[in-house]
This record gives sequence, C-alpha cells and structure tokens, in this order.
Amino acid sequence: MLILNKTAGVFSKPSKRNMYEFLRSFNFHPGKLFLHKLVLGIETSCDDTAAAVVDETGNVLGEAIHSQTEVHLKTGGIIPPVAQQLHRENIQRIVQEALSASKVSPSELSAIATTIKPGLALSLGVGLSFSLQLVDQLKKPFIPIHHMEAHALTIRLTNKVEFPFLVLLISGGHCLLALVRGVSDFLLLGKSLDIAPGDMLDKVARRLSLIKHPECSTMSGGKAIEHLAKQGNKLHFDFKPPMQHAKNCDFSFSGLHHIIDKMIMQKEKEEGIEKGQILSSAADIAAAVQHTVACHIAKRTHRAILFCKQRDLLCQSNAVLVVSGGVASNLHIRKALEIVTDATQCTLLCPPPRLCTDNGVMIAWNGVERLRAGLGILHSTEGIRYEPKCPLGADISKEVGEAAIKVPRLKMKI
Ligand code: KG4
Ligand code: ZN
Repeated sequence: MLILNKTAGVFSKPSKRNMYEFLRSFNFHPGKLFLHKLVLGIETSCDDTAAAVVDETGNVLGEAIHSQTEVHLKTGGIIPPVAQQLHRENIQRIVQEALSASKVSPSELSAIATTIKPGLALSLGVGLSFSLQLVDQLKKPFIPIHHMEAHALTIRLTNKVEFPFLVLLISGGHCLLALVRGVSDFLLLGKSLDIAPGDMLDKVARRLSLIKHPECSTMSGGKAIEHLAKQGNKLHFDFKPPMQHAKNCDFSFSGLHHIIDKMIMQKEKEEGIEKGQILSSAADIAAAVQHTVACHIAKRTHRAILFCKQRDLLCQSNAVLVVSGGVASNLHIRKALEIVTDATQCTLLCPPPRLCTDNGVMIAWNGVERLRAGLGILHSTEGIRYEPKCPLGADISKEVGEAAIKVPRLKMKI
C-alpha cells in the first residue's frame, strides 16, 4: 500500500513521524529471501533526484529519477534554492519508487549509500538529511559517497574492468582525468582550471538562442550543439584548442568561451540581427566549437595515457580508458577519443548514456564496491557533514606537468 499524498510526499522538514509513515508504507512479501547484499543509493548532488537498489552482483533491482533539467532550462541555469526545493518535493517519492520497483523492503537492505560530496550545498543537504533519518530508523550502516568516485566506478557494473584504469569525467559540472587504482584509490592527473566543457557548451547554446530553434528547444545545450553541428561546416571558423603550450593534463574552457562569444557578436553585426535571434551561421559555429572542444579533450587525454604508460601506472598493451559524464554522450568527442585510444593501443569504454549522467544506480553500486572492500562503512553517523568541494584522490597534476610529455600530433579526421 502506498500512502504518499501530496503533503506526505514533500520532504521539507525531516521528522521522525514523517519517516515512520514513509517506512510503514512498505508492505512486501515477508519470507522472500535475497541471497545477495542489497544497497540503496541516493543521489541529490546537483539537479537530479535519483535512487536505486543494486545487489552485490550488479543487478539493478529498482531505480527512479526525477530530472530538473526542464525547469533549469527555462531559468537559464541552476538556481540552488530552486534545485533544493525540487529535491525536497521529490526525494521521498523517488526513494519509494526505487524500493517498490525492486520489491525489496527497507528492512532487507544491507546499507544505504548517499552522495555527500562534492556538489551544491543545498542539494546535497536534502539527500543527506533524508538518508540520515532513514539510517536512524532502520538501524542500517551508512556509506557516504564521493560523487566523482561513483561516476568512475560505474563501468565496473556494466563491464568486466579490473584496476587500474584511466577515467575521463566530462559533464556540466565535472572535468577531470584520473587513474583509478582501487575503489577509493585515485590519482588526479588533471582537471579544468575554470569551467567544465558541458557548462561551456550550455553557455554557447544559450548565447546562440538554440532554445528557440525548432529542432533543439527541448535539448540540453551540449546536445543542441551536437545536433546542429551535423548541419554545419567546422572549417568555417578557426577556433584554436586552449592551452596548446601547457604540457600537462589540465583543461580550460573559459578563454575559448569568450572568443566564441566575441565571434557571435561580430556575426550578429555582420548579419544585422539582434541578440536573441538565431544566426544563419549557428550550425557552423556549433560544428567548430564542438570540434575544438573534442581536440582539446583528446590532446589532454592522450598525454595522460602517455604519462601513465611512461610511469608504468597502466598496462602497456591493453590499458582501458573509461569516459563518462553527460558530455561523454557526444559522438564527435567520442570519435576524437577513439583516435587517441587506437593510436595508443588502449580500449575505450563508456557506460550506457543513462549511466553516464547522474543517477542513483552509480551511487548504490559505489556502496556495493565499498561494502565488498570493507571501506568507509559507518555504523554511527554522528558528525557526518556534506562537503560542497572535495578533490578526488591524490593530486599529482603538478608532477604530470613537470614531466612535460610531448604528444605526437594525430589527424583528427572526424
Ligand atoms: O552528467 P550530467 O547529466 O550532469 C552534470 O553536469 O553533472 O551532464 C550534463 C551536461 C550538460 O552540460 C549538457 O549540455 C551536456 O552534459 N551534454 C552534452 C550532450 N548531452 C548532454 N554535451 C555534449 N554533447 C551531448 N550530446
Ligand atoms: Zn555527475
């Protein structure tokens, strides 16, 4: 019996009574036996409220997600208090849906895993306080999750990938290259020094008013750029990939963004149109931007592979590069990365699109990985706090830069 009504579904003020009612709403077949350990994962670090139940063999038993993309598209970006309110309105329903779909009763869970870092403070807070209530009522272990660690480990749920492997995370909020040596053993090789590639593509799409384009009105900025780029000629504009002389694995997208902004302004003058109208050269700009971003990402990744091989951190002949995050669904960027992995005898792996973007499955799976490894399983949650900023692993990006590895030029014929 589901007892959710509109008021009960809004998890605005965590209270014991509220949680008790929520737990009473589960009425599953007593006596049903689960052979494997079961983890409930909860994600609210940015603009998706997501939950899933995964067993220790990687079976996804139930999942649910509420995306805020549509709301944030209208306001031209994420407004944290709005995101927080939407998480509050949806978290109880989403966790309930994931549990109901899995046919697992809360008492059968082995642990609850929740993203506590990094992310938007107001968003993280909703997931954490909901989870702590649940943990308290159920007397279950709590596994705090690092959002980026979860993205990185997702591939081990879908593919047989052993440690170590290289991971490239590219989305609206993330941009990093790391070597994954174990469940919570990461070496950070490089990151964006300013904004993430998805954020830049979103800004360019907004500046080009692609939301008004009949074919792109419901797409995220990055997806709209990819869609329009297919109709454009990338050679009509010559944007240079950023940081060509910095021989490290860091990224930068702000400078390129400003150059593109200026170019758009100039084109508007040439075409005699107002800001807010769609340029006739929008598709060419989209194609050139996408290609420049792809070349920049490919070059930094190429250097990371060479660095890891030079230091014997990765297998010489059959190393794995995992690419994930919303931007990883871009086929042009994937092809650029394929050229790099072909040239370096590596295997390129990407989780399926629904697991590339934020989701509850990756959090639950990270919980399973930690449970199996016996790492970071809390039996008392006293003093636990969310952390909006939190680096991933040991930062060796300076050492990577000092190695100053020259990357051979590859023909990016895409
Ligand atoms: O992983 P994600 O759902 O959320 C986080 O940012 O964490 O990624 C969303 C980002 C947005 O910036 C969106 O524009 C971008 O991924 N994106 C794409 C594509 N689809 C989504 N960027 C390039 N090409 C795409 N096809
Ligand atoms: Zn993410």
